[in-house]
Amino acid sequence: MTLLIIAPDRDLSPWTIALQACEPELAVKIWPQVPVKEDVTFALCWRQPADIWQQLPNLRCISSLGAGVDHLLQDPSLPADIPIVRLVDPFLAQSMFEYICAATMGILRDFDVYQTQQSATCWHPQNLSLSHHCTVGIMGLGQLGAYTAQRLAQMGFKVVGWARSQKQIEGIETYAGHAELVDFLKRSNILVCLLPLTEQTRNILDRSLLAKLPHQAYLINVARGEHLVDTDLLTAIDAGQLRGACLDVFRQEPLPSDHPFWLHPQIRVTPHCSSITNPVSVAPQIVENYRRSQTGQPLLNQVSRSRGY
Ligand code: GLV
Repeated sequence: MTLLIIAPDRDLSPWTIALQACEPELAVKIWPQVPVKEDVTFALCWRQPADIWQQLPNLRCISSLGAGVDHLLQDPSLPADIPIVRLVDPFLAQSMFEYICAATMGILRDFDVYQTQQSATCWHPQNLSLSHHCTVGIMGLGQLGAYTAQRLAQMGFKVVGWARSQKQIEGIETYAGHAELVDFLKRSNILVCLLPLTEQTRNILDRSLLAKLPHQAYLINVARGEHLVDTDLLTAIDAGQLRGACLDVFRQEPLPSDHPFWLHPQIRVTPHCSSITNPVSVAPQIVENYRRSQTGQPLLNQVSRSRGY
């Protein structure tokens, strides 16, 4: 029985080492080097090639190699009867929080303004804001969103959260569903998108949503590029409605060199690095799910296909 890693264009040797350190007997192969495809019972995938599944007739479980599963659920050839799992990991949550914290602090302390001033050799202190003057709105209150919300609140920010269904998170005021979205947006000086990508959330960050944010609000998108309507963001910034945006994810990655985001003075671009799965940290849960899938036990972090996450 074989665990197959399918993640073209990634260096996968740290994954093999981490998995075999957890379970020395485990047969780990890396696509496309698979001598006997019938032996593959578990697939660990990131942006797998199209139509791969029909070549693997004995799969018992498909795991995402990250927190998101949209690359799997959007694949029309994904077999309907094989359970899908994702990775939930404290390292992922911590690294995501730290990225959002850096972007949020930079805005609170006007680093974007000082960057522009520096290029004009302009010495001009801005009015000082403290964290409790700023409300951060977190869209998406799953593992990463809930953790980030609580850590930002501990730092002194006012934090509000929004999710599809009602969530209770200690110390955080939460809003739920379409009916409460506008009230949530109206309060969010900094809006952070941490939503899963589903048919309901694709293009959610559009002109009408951005227009409901307070004047000069700031957007941080660390979820998926398809959440954001790129031209609507540019229009909102250029009209002075938004102060700017920090974007880590894009419709096309790498972001094409002629995309207007690259050179926009109020947009910060980072290369999908806000939170990167650490093989050593997640190997134990992958091996555990491998064992469970071989013996028919309930899996950890199984994804609901109907919800899309
Ligand atoms: C990264 O984008 C992930 O889903 O883990």
